[in-house]
Amino acid sequence: MSKALVTFFSAEGTTEKVAKRIAEKAEADIFEIKPEMPYSKADINWKNPLSRCNREKIGRKDVPISEKIENFGEYDVVFIGFPIWYYGAPNIINTFIKEYDWSGKKIALFATSGGSGMGKTAEKVKPLFEGKGEIIAAELFNGAISDDEIKKWVDEAMTN
Ligand SMILES: Cc1cc2nc3c(=O)[nH]c(=O)nc-3n(C[C@H](O)[C@H](O)[C@H](O)COP(=O)(O)O)c2cc1C
Repeated sequence: MSKALVTFFSAEGTTEKVAKRIAEKAEADIFEIKPEMPYSKADINWKNPLSRCNREKIGRKDVPISEKIENFGEYDVVFIGFPIWYYGAPNIINTFIKEYDWSGKKIALFATSGGSGMGKTAEKVKPLFEGKGEIIAAELFNGAISDDEIKKWVDEAMTN
């Protein structure tokens, strides 16, 4: 039986809800990817060109994370969840991926968005795993998703 970990970043709570449902179905541990400096409402106002999220995006900045997963080596499958920001994964996800050794891991990406699809999100983060680990799934969970749909996706990811 694979041991699974659900990790997620959520600025406004939507992805967090999905992450908790996935963790329940996967009987997985859960880890919230939290920035050292929490995002305020003003920080994530993408309509303001000078807001933190825009500066991070344009500057391709890393976003320091407040805690580290000490027992990362124990997990076979790692889910990574995030909101779609600017048609892809937020910078903090890039930082998160770069902090760990993904050798032998199966990786399942999931996201929520305001309407955009996953687009090239998986292809864009792939190089950050440095050829270690394998992305086995990438799915958008918007709107009313049933427990059965989540269970089906989780089961597929866990047995892939
Ligand atoms: C900085 C920023 C950029 C965003 N960019 C997009 C985007 O490119 N496409 C989209 O559909 N939604 C975009 N959104 C909306 C979020 O993806 C959506 O509201 C998501 O469900 C929020 O998840 P959360 O509550 O877990 O943070 C953006 C939101 C923010 C704050």
